[in-house]
Amino acid sequence: MDSTYDRKAEVKAFDDSKVGVKGLVESGVTKIPRMFHSGKLDTIQTLATDSKLSVPIIDLKDMHYNTALHAELISKIRSACHEWGFFQVINHGIPISVLGEMIHGIRRFHEQDSKVRKEFYTRDLKKKVLYYSNISLLNSDQPVNWRDTFGFAVAPDPPKPEEIPSVCRDIAIEYSKKIRDLGFRILELLSEALGLNPSYLKELNCGEGLFILGNYYPTCPEPELTMGATKHTDGNFVTLLLQDQLGGLQVLHQNQWVNVPPVHGALVVNIGDLLQLITNDMFVSVYHRVLSNKSSPRISTSRK
Ligand code: OGA
Ligand code: NI
Repeated sequence: MDSTYDRKAEVKAFDDSKVGVKGLVESGVTKIPRMFHSGKLDTIQTLATDSKLSVPIIDLKDMHYNTALHAELISKIRSACHEWGFFQVINHGIPISVLGEMIHGIRRFHEQDSKVRKEFYTRDLKKKVLYYSNISLLNSDQPVNWRDTFGFAVAPDPPKPEEIPSVCRDIAIEYSKKIRDLGFRILELLSEALGLNPSYLKELNCGEGLFILGNYYPTCPEPELTMGATKHTDGNFVTLLLQDQLGGLQVLHQNQWVNVPPVHGALVVNIGDLLQLITNDMFVSVYHRVLSNKSSPRISTSRK
């Protein structure tokens, strides 16, 4: 115990800066503030060395045809959702150039002048465009993630185009449309994997409320002390995640952390708590986390 440590003051100063973890890095810190120390929380399980343990990669090229291949696809999805709660999809129909530009757009947002970023900083979840670091920072005693987030609503109530930051406006709008459509396709496949009519989950309105988050994990001077994201499950129905080529995302499988390696052109799909709940655990919402690193910033975007 260190009676001189005032966490509240540290958190408040950080939040008042309105420039996130990126702002700390820009100010030249070489030692990370104590609120980011994750202690032993995340080091209980070992990292899988068994190469047979890898997150399934599922090719969606057969998704539109009602053939034996389609049935095989559905069966792969069913076991991925049941065994892993995670899979990667390729040939999903979103052009790779759009994925690349979305990553760039998020990078441009987080790397623009801090004076501009500051204007967007808020924890008001009623806002349609948000920029914050660690959404529950102020009322939590959990270790803080080495991560900043930019986010915007997509449905049912999107911001006006001019409310979206100009550095990423066009791509944010284009990506939103494409990821929303793909989300509906994935819900159809998941419905089929549950043995239901393809439109089942869509008709439950599982795809209605949509938010896109643009995560930025700045380079970290002491990556052994903190996590980009501490282990968590997602609280929504299903997340579609696009990560850059750096790596660092891990999923807990059979009590071991397994890397979710970046696959060029792929999107990661993961089941959230709500889908686990309504499927009576047929599909599982599993713990995952993101390591921090010293070499370069990592960018990801998730459709929630
Ligand atoms: C999330 C998440 C992982 C990543 O947004 O819930 O787990 O790679 N993101 O950024
Ligand atoms: Ni997550």
